[in-house]
Amino acid sequence: MKYVTISLLAILFLTSCKQRPKESEATQSAKPDYTKIGMRYAQETQKVLGKNLKATIQDKGVAEAVVFCNERAYPLTDSMATHYQAKIKRVSDKTRNPMNKANATEMEHINTFKKQIALGDSIAPIVQEKDGQVHFYYPIVTNALCLNCHGTPNQNITPKVVEHLSGLYPEDQATGYGIDEVRGIWSIVFDASENPE
Ligand code: HEC
Repeated sequence: MKYVTISLLAILFLTSCKQRPKESEATQSAKPDYTKIGMRYAQETQKVLGKNLKATIQDKGVAEAVVFCNERAYPLTDSMATHYQAKIKRVSDKTRNPMNKANATEMEHINTFKKQIALGDSIAPIVQEKDGQVHFYYPIVTNALCLNCHGTPNQNITPKVVEHLSGLYPEDQATGYGIDEVRGIWSIVFDASENPE
């Protein structure tokens, strides 16, 4: 009798396990792919900022590009946010502009991404649904270009650029970076019920 109960339980357990993936597949296919949507918002905003930054550096030099970041990073990010009807923020644990300070949740995700990158793991965005909204997080990683303004002062950052930066950002913490480091994250919120695909 004992064995019958155990094997019955085992059968029940196995069948419920088998059914579970099917159920979640069904719910997922009815929903928009939030990871894909979030990635598109992050990548398109990054592309707009990067394209304008590179063009300004080429035309006017790094020192003038500091002014560009100071004046244009916010309006450009905001215009992408309006376009996608999402909240789009660039936040960091070590900020240049104190308005970009990560909150406690964002700080946690920054640390997760830092660990993944240090271990050489592949990076997957963090996507969470809460109260009808999707919260999307994805790291912003440095490359050689970034070091012109986020590297080591007077080594990667020329004295002229250091001067511009300290004039505009007396509380600048965003220096001392090397390449392939987590400079910050995209923190994006959009409506879970929308399907803009
Ligand atoms: C020409 C100088 C310059 C270059 C090059 C540059 N940045 Fe910045 N960065 C700035 C300035 C200035 C700010 C502050 C913008 C503001 O006031 O909103 C900033 C802010 C940021 C922020 C927002 C968080 C904070 O610290 O306020 C992130 C994230 C960031 N930069 C990442 C990057 C990455 C990644 C690269 C390379 C792809 C890069 N930056 C290249 C000047 C630069």
